[in-house]
Amino acid sequence: MNFTGAHILSINQFQREDVDRVFAVADNMEPYALRKRVTRVLEGAILGNMFFEASTRTRVSFGSAFNLLGGEVRETAGFENSALVKGESLQDTARVLSGFSDVICMRHPQPGSVADFAAASRVPVLNGGDGANEHPTQALLDLYTIRKEMADKGRDIDGLSVAMIGDLRHGRTVHSLGKLLSLYKNIRVVLISPKELTLPDSIVESMRAAGVDVSISHELTQSIAAVDIVYSTRIQEERFSSKQEADLYRGKFRLNQAIYTQYCQPNTVIMHPLPRDSRADANELDSDLDDNPNLAIFRQTDNGVLVRMALFALVLNVADKVDDFAYEVRWYNARQNRITP
Ligand code: NCD
Repeated sequence: MNFTGAHILSINQFQREDVDRVFAVADNMEPYALRKRVTRVLEGAILGNMFFEASTRTRVSFGSAFNLLGGEVRETAGFENSALVKGESLQDTARVLSGFSDVICMRHPQPGSVADFAAASRVPVLNGGDGANEHPTQALLDLYTIRKEMADKGRDIDGLSVAMIGDLRHGRTVHSLGKLLSLYKNIRVVLISPKELTLPDSIVESMRAAGVDVSISHELTQSIAAVDIVYSTRIQEERFSSKQEADLYRGKFRLNQAIYTQYCQPNTVIMHPLPRDSRADANELDSDLDDNPNLAIFRQTDNGVLVRMALFALVLNVADKVDDFAYEVRWYNARQNRITP
């Protein structure tokens, strides 16, 4: 894939060598994300960060990643603050905003909307989540985390088994991650969800066609017994017609330390794209796991900045110039060592 000037809309665009390239550039970003060094390689560049759906970490992660490369960020958050409420089409918004920005990140509730926007944009567009469709940068940061966690255990991505748990029908992160895992060999995926919330057939079929051993389950404990990674997700309440309908599925598959100890292999890695729903009737990932060293959820969020820095550097064609515009930090650095302990 030629990254320069490319829109990043779907995992379908990626081959394994493209993922390797993103991860290699992300590795080089670590001194900058840890504030050991500063780079100004994107000085003068502007990111238009447009989030038309709730977001904390993805929006701030994209913005921080761009700032860490020396660029500036302009943001729109929420429909109510944008001209879309005045009836402007996404295409017109794209034509306008791409005149102000060098690259745009966008989240929108409608599947396919980010691709439509990109088609009218004069600058590269990165998909920050288009409805229940895809969330490609999340899948890349998830796989980058998996790679790091498993490298610490002497394992590769090839040969892993992964349990995906929760609202697999509406969860765009698992849609993208399922596609991404399909690029690797001897992968086993156990899909654990209520019957009504299974992973879309088209994705299951494409994973199987790529050689992934996919099984479908509607119970938790036996299904997580022999996997390397459990990837829990939230019931995507905003995709249901009512809160009452979402309530039917909330709290069905809860992972806590007691279940982990009883059923999981020792050192099974625990992941979640976040936010985890901490309300009592949901609680899919209990806070009693917070002291478990295999809980990787905050390493995922830290890694997200590295991966997004890499994507910006590749799309704007500065990946090989980052160190040429670098200097040492001047201020007290509280984050000396690794990303989250
Ligand atoms: C996810 C999303 O928005 O799809 N969050 C995120 O970007 N990390 C998952 C979710 O909201 O449940």
